Amino acid sequence: MAPRKLAAGNWKMNGDLAALSQIDAIVAGRETGCDVLICPPAVLLHPMVARIGGGDLLVGGQDCHHAGSGAHTGDIAAAQLADAGASHVILGHSERRADHGETDADVAAKARAAHDAGLIAIICVGETEAERDAGTTLDVIAAQLQGSIPDCATSANTVIAYEPVWAIGTGRTPDNAQIAEVHAMIRDALSATLPDVSLLYGGSVKAANATEIFAIDNVDGALVGGASLKAADFLPIVSALAAS
Ligand code: PGA
Repeated sequence: MAPRKLAAGNWKMNGDLAALSQIDAIVAGRETGCDVLICPPAVLLHPMVARIGGGDLLVGGQDCHHAGSGAHTGDIAAAQLADAGASHVILGHSERRADHGETDADVAAKARAAHDAGLIAIICVGETEAERDAGTTLDVIAAQLQGSIPDCATSANTVIAYEPVWAIGTGRTPDNAQIAEVHAMIRDALSATLPDVSLLYGGSVKAANATEIFAIDNVDGALVGGASLKAADFLPIVSALAAS
């Protein structure tokens, strides 16, 4: 089995019911040849699924709790995401790690809950700028992989997103050799346990750099923030992946 190609959009805390019109354009304009996923704020999940109708577009959550249900005000269980129509959930995004103090162990527990609910967990890893400058990128990422991936992970229920923290929302990206180096290390580290796992790159992916990034070995897709909010920005990225 070859890794599946996935173009994933992360709307973060952006969008409202009016923004769902973008979904019509994505469903109408998307090419086959890769999976396409949009992860909106949780309140938009169900209306987005309704809007997609029979269209070939996946939706996902941006986080879930590690428990199945209970007294956790403001949190969302993985089964509730699945019930709303989600197929995937992003876990351990650097914004969750920074804003909410999520540790690798938290991410692993959430991923276990996601798998129990039948969701595909997109587990995010990535170094800060200080870590890159200190030359510790590969060690940092190896440790995040080791700590954030639960034993129940398989190539089918897990996706790994390499997202250098300093490239997110900044317009800066690593050079191709830097992306290739990290993706090769991740592929190698997971070769025994998750041999066909999809490896996404994330951080300032846009139409102008997508083709170049998708040509890099072991890049099976992208996790896209800002450029996923508008169909006109996102569709060229989807096309570039489908053509890669
Ligand atoms: P960006 O965000 O594409 O806006 O840099 C990527 C991400 O955080 O997943």
